[in-house]
Amino acid sequence: MYFFNKKGVTGLGARITAIGTYVPERILSNFDLESMVDTSNEWIIKRTGIHERRISRPDEFTSDLCVAAVNNLVYRYNKDLSDVDMIIVATSTPDFPFPSVASLIQNRLNIPQAGCIDLSAACAGFVYTLHTAHCYIKSGLHKKILVLGADTLSKITDYSDRNTCILFGDGAGAVLVETDDQVDNFIAFHLGSDGSGAKHVYRTGLANKIDGTALTDTPYLVQNGREVFKWVVKNIPGCINELMDKAHSNLDKVDWFIPHSANLRLIEPICEKLEYPMEKTLHSLVYFGNTSSASIPLAFDLGIREGKVKKRDRVLLYGFGSGLVHAGQLLEVDLDQPVNYSDPL
Ligand code: COA
Repeated sequence: MYFFNKKGVTGLGARITAIGTYVPERILSNFDLESMVDTSNEWIIKRTGIHERRISRPDEFTSDLCVAAVNNLVYRYNKDLSDVDMIIVATSTPDFPFPSVASLIQNRLNIPQAGCIDLSAACAGFVYTLHTAHCYIKSGLHKKILVLGADTLSKITDYSDRNTCILFGDGAGAVLVETDDQVDNFIAFHLGSDGSGAKHVYRTGLANKIDGTALTDTPYLVQNGREVFKWVVKNIPGCINELMDKAHSNLDKVDWFIPHSANLRLIEPICEKLEYPMEKTLHSLVYFGNTSSASIPLAFDLGIREGKVKKRDRVLLYGFGSGLVHAGQLLEVDLDQPVNYSDPL
């Protein structure tokens, strides 16, 4: 069960063995938004790269998207989930403050023995859940973990606010992380948060002040996009370099960079600072917008479905968002061979 990795350290290995994704059917295009707020298709594409996004039905919630993503995973990889021992869902838009989305989907997927938690790390949530699953498996206490990133941001978006409604969409991604006695595909990680920027993206709940400063009290997401933009461009490239140092590697060895799909115009300066080619970057924002914790698994899966991401490729995931929180994971891709191919998303 234990093995020696390249640095001579004994431990259990973990591997992402399968992936599945789902986006709702309804499309909200830039042209639709033109009739809702004072904006234009040209402005949105020029400033964000987004053409359209998917919006859940009024009776469709984050747990529904999660179940659909897991069903897609099972269909493609023929995975038996009856022995899954933990379900972790990254989301900022759970169906309820409690119970957790993980508990809701555990019941619907009929996995009664699994532990269930939701994890709150905004748009870095999926990478945090992956890291958490890796730690659980490395401890030897868990063997098979269902990891999800899912959000229905449309439910907390103010469609009269042109600063936010042009960005967000709904979606879900699921991966299965399993113990492996041969390899550990999780090469290196980097986590952090700068709580001094908490006031730049938030939704009020029980509290409506941060550090004594009153927040806009609304049921909707509030964002100072300019401040988030500046923070990301200033800080994230350095964090990525730190992660690569931890991996004793460099970006030349990274086959695909999958940053959070916040805004294409935000990804470009990150790549420029890192001197990393944009064409080796995968994102999900053109047709799905910013789907928060779903954006990275959606982009990963698009890369797989389009035949870009191959076995043994090194992928670098980097999420960032409200917190201001961030998380990165360098992985070697080693998924099982699918038994069914899914149509393009
Ligand atoms: N359509 C047309 N004009 C718009 C607009 C829209 N949807 N939104 C803003 N504008 C206008 C502004 O009113 C402003 O006009 P002015 O110069 O006359 O005052 C001008 O465009 C520039 O506004 P600004 O807010 O500076 O735009 P920007 O280039 O920063 O782009 C965002 C705005 C939101 C797209 C961008 O800041 C962003 O994506 N930030 C990161 C957000 C993010 O990642 N959030 C999620 C956290 S993970």
